[in-house]
Amino acid sequence: MPDLSPSYDDSAAGCGEPVDPTLVPKRKLYTGALMPAIGLGTFGSDHAPPEEVAAAVKGAILAGYRHLDCASVYGNEDRIGAALEEVFHRGIRREELWVTSKLWNDKHGEDEVIASCKKSLADLRLDYLDMYLVHWPFPNFHPPGCSVDSRSPGARPYIHENFMKTWRRMERLVELGLVRHIGTSNMTIPKLNLLLRDASIKPAVNEMELHPHFQQPELFDFVRGNGIEPIGYCPVGSPGRPQRDRTPYDTVDIADPVIVEIARRLGVHPAAVCVKWAVQRGQTPIPFSTKPRNYVANLRCAVTEPLAEPDMRAIARIDRNCRLIKGQVFLWKDNQSWEDLWDIDGEIRT
Ligand SMILES: NC(=O)c1ccc[n+]([C@@H]2O[C@H](COP(=O)([O-])OP(=O)(O)OC[C@H]3O[C@@H](n4cnc5c(N)ncnc54)[C@H](OP(=O)(O)O)[C@@H]3O)[C@@H](O)[C@H]2O)c1
Repeated sequence: MPDLSPSYDDSAAGCGEPVDPTLVPKRKLYTGALMPAIGLGTFGSDHAPPEEVAAAVKGAILAGYRHLDCASVYGNEDRIGAALEEVFHRGIRREELWVTSKLWNDKHGEDEVIASCKKSLADLRLDYLDMYLVHWPFPNFHPPGCSVDSRSPGARPYIHENFMKTWRRMERLVELGLVRHIGTSNMTIPKLNLLLRDASIKPAVNEMELHPHFQQPELFDFVRGNGIEPIGYCPVGSPGRPQRDRTPYDTVDIADPVIVEIARRLGVHPAAVCVKWAVQRGQTPIPFSTKPRNYVANLRCAVTEPLAEPDMRAIARIDRNCRLIKGQVFLWKDNQSWEDLWDIDGEIRT
């Protein structure tokens, strides 16, 4: 551990001792690389400005986090880069960190993939990324913060041939040494089957929505069965997401009686039960918080006593198949439903 005295962080002080990162479980990727089994989400959306997210990144690393989930579209990589520079000055070494970034949807084209990756690297002040993801399989642009009814004029469905062109550009990033691994996000089994058939470099992870009310057991088993690690986003059920991303049918994980009862018994917040369940089930959760008390509590979930087997079984039974991030803005035709994006009947919609 680096010397972090006198207090390990100005903002996280008072939240207890930092967590020893060597105690945090690791996921072994098919390349043999070890990825910390919990990371910090960095999507501030409408509620956390870049400075606040960057302060959380600094505080979280000094509190023991070693895995960050970033993306160019989150609009804060330059501030996070400044925070990284500060923690490096305080004795953290680059190779101790696992930093992911993502290619945004309007940058899938020729020349744009390398340029976007280099922009993220420059903003983050790094010379390589541990992981670079294709953020969505659809190249459809929409401005940050737009309404769910917004559609990009040139919107297209998933076209595998085009996706493979983007994937070849991603593979090139590995060859150039700009990124150590590449992966996918928001993919489905039919799309991954095609990618696995045609890729020269297989995705090392698939980032997907995973929380107790949306467990995606089939996709979860599929990716693991193919040597791909599942990264779970919205692990707490994204209680802070903007109103425009909510529907009357959405359920609330942290209000589920099973989660609430386990939390009460353990004396923790229901969010912590969701995070603990995720790590123990085998996905890598990336909970977001800018509050030191909460992000430290989430990390501690990974190193404290596991949930009892009956609790794990009880949580397995509360799956509601409730997808929160439906992706409506990616639809490409009128009169479509967001379900068309997710290949629910095993067919890729065109
Ligand atoms: N690949 C993709 O397409 C994709 C999509 C969505 C998200 N993501 C990634 O996943 C990350 C997480 O998703 P998310 O932010 O939507 O949802 P989330 O992590 O499920 O929920 C975050 C919310 O939960 C609260 N929270 C977290 N830990 C808590 C605790 N211990 N106690 C009480 N409240 C707690 C936070 O409130 P406070 O701030 O008040 O603590 C925050 O409002 C994002 O930041 C992003 O990095 C990726």
